[in-house]
Amino acid sequence: MAEPFAAVDVIRAKRDGGRLTDAQVDWVVDAYTRGVVAEEQMAALAMAILLRGMDGDETARWTRAMIDSGERLHIDVGRPTADKHSTGGVGDKITLVLAPLVAACGAAVPQLSGRGLGHTGGTLDKLEAIPGWRAELSTAEMIAQLDDVGAVVAAASAALAPADRKLYALRDVTATVESIPLIASSIMSKKIAAGPRSLVLDVKVGSGAFMKTRPDAVELAHTMIGIGRAHGVATAAVLTDMSRPLGLTAGNAVEVAEAVEVLRGGGPPDVVELTLVLAREMLALAGITGVDPAEVLASGEVYRTWQAMIRAQGGDPDAPLPRPAHRHVVEAEADGVLAELDALAVGMAAWRLGAGRSAPGEPVQHAAGVRLLARQGDEVRKGQPLAELHTDTADAVPAAVAALADGVRIAATAEAPGPLVLDVLR
Ligand code: URA
Repeated sequence: MAEPFAAVDVIRAKRDGGRLTDAQVDWVVDAYTRGVVAEEQMAALAMAILLRGMDGDETARWTRAMIDSGERLHIDVGRPTADKHSTGGVGDKITLVLAPLVAACGAAVPQLSGRGLGHTGGTLDKLEAIPGWRAELSTAEMIAQLDDVGAVVAAASAALAPADRKLYALRDVTATVESIPLIASSIMSKKIAAGPRSLVLDVKVGSGAFMKTRPDAVELAHTMIGIGRAHGVATAAVLTDMSRPLGLTAGNAVEVAEAVEVLRGGGPPDVVELTLVLAREMLALAGITGVDPAEVLASGEVYRTWQAMIRAQGGDPDAPLPRPAHRHVVEAEADGVLAELDALAVGMAAWRLGAGRSAPGEPVQHAAGVRLLARQGDEVRKGQPLAELHTDTADAVPAAVAALADGVRIAATAEAPGPLVLDVLR
């Protein structure tokens, strides 16, 4: 069958600052998925979109075309479905606590996640530190677990938004990731295809995030909210600070251990605060009222839901977590106040230690990561331990120490850290 458009005309239209028609968008996304539009043509179009932008309707249509490139799940398990997506940060183990918490409050939480790339860790990589746990589930297994336990965190099936899978890999190697319409449509196509009725977005801002500035984060949030609404998914966004790491750990097993502390009623206050803010938004969007997630978290019920969630995927929640072959303590070089403990530096250190990967498909070390022993704003003495580095490869330590040193500043005085939750956009 003859193709209705030529890729070169679509590229030229966007290159010259034009608006793509619905028919052009539908065709180019579909033809790229079928291999009719070549990689180099899509690379040129992605660059034209990055430079020229897409308006709200164009972005919503682009997202629809990416959803239509694969399956869209319809989940009906007798309770409202609520999902959360984080744009990615350092130390972001929130899903591990939030999914069982919101399930224990009465919603069904289908969390289809990805693996980490670069300095931001992936939720699946963290959970795979738990002996036996498996990320790959069939759709039937996922629905059965949602029905039974109420929460599932699993790998997104290749059948969901395959156009995005292909396009994301291309953007990664053509310097076209940093386009707000392309990021928004990429995230939302996968989320909407997974079938939740409501979605809360944790949009991170700061050195450790994709969006380095607040105006960019607000624009991304509004773009994603618009796409969600256009597809009948109740969507809200919480803007949160990612200039410093979340909690006191970044890596795999170390983050699981910290999440378990929160599930047992302890853990760092910032992790607890953000979990509760997101849980309240999720419950409100799902129409669940009269349940206080703080009370549910304190009741012990969430820890039981966590155990059931891990066991359902073959994991042993009581097994000891992997321990690193090497530990290295980083000490304060002077007396003073810890004025800066930068998220990107901590994320880069964890990555250097082996917690993350530099190319898709690479294995990660379960035991690798950073455990912070001081927080921004703390008074410190020369020689005091600031962080413990965990790795199985001793050779990785010097580069990790250097990466961390880039983000540690000790001064005579320091401003108190700003708020974690910057805004809620509905
Ligand atoms: N995460 C995604 O899924 N897609 C992007 O484009 C950026 C972050």
